[in-house]
Amino acid sequence: MEQTLVILKPSAVERRLIGKILQRIEDRGLIICGMKMMKLDEKILREHYAHLVDRPFFPSILESMTASPVIVICLKGVDVVNVFRTMTGSTNGRNAAPGTLRGDFCMSGQENIIHASDSVENANIEINRFFKPEEIFDYTPSNLRFFYGADELK
Ligand code: PPS
Repeated sequence: MEQTLVILKPSAVERRLIGKILQRIEDRGLIICGMKMMKLDEKILREHYAHLVDRPFFPSILESMTASPVIVICLKGVDVVNVFRTMTGSTNGRNAAPGTLRGDFCMSGQENIIHASDSVENANIEINRFFKPEEIFDYTPSNLRFFYGADELK
């Protein structure tokens, strides 16, 4: 089953939104197969945001993403990369649709509470960036048949 990487940014941790976001993840039926708190440093952020290092706002990203620890999560589900990007909403919270996490909980493009992988390829790279193999638990919930039809799990 597909996996994706989620970061609950300092704007989520500091605002005590961790529980609300996890509740939405579980309510949707997504499977948490890895989760930990960590403090990001410049080295890992330069790697993670390599496509943005030359942008004028990159120093702000560094400041924002190191302001407190973050929660990194590996999620599993059918088409989970797209499903969770849709749940997350547009990058700028002010443009994010109501009902999405950003649309319900934030007002900013920088302090936008969540990072979510944007493709299956990047998800695999990002999961390996933030987790050791032994930190991922690829279990199958016993009630999975009540979340998906048999055809969807093939
Ligand atoms: S872009 O501009 O389309 O290449 O950006 P994108 O790939 O959507 O990711 C932008 C990430 O940078 C964070 N960020 C900002 N974006 C735009 N403007 C400002 N000022 C800014 N500051 C930080 C933004 O939250 C996106 O982070 P992630 O973690 O990828 O959602």
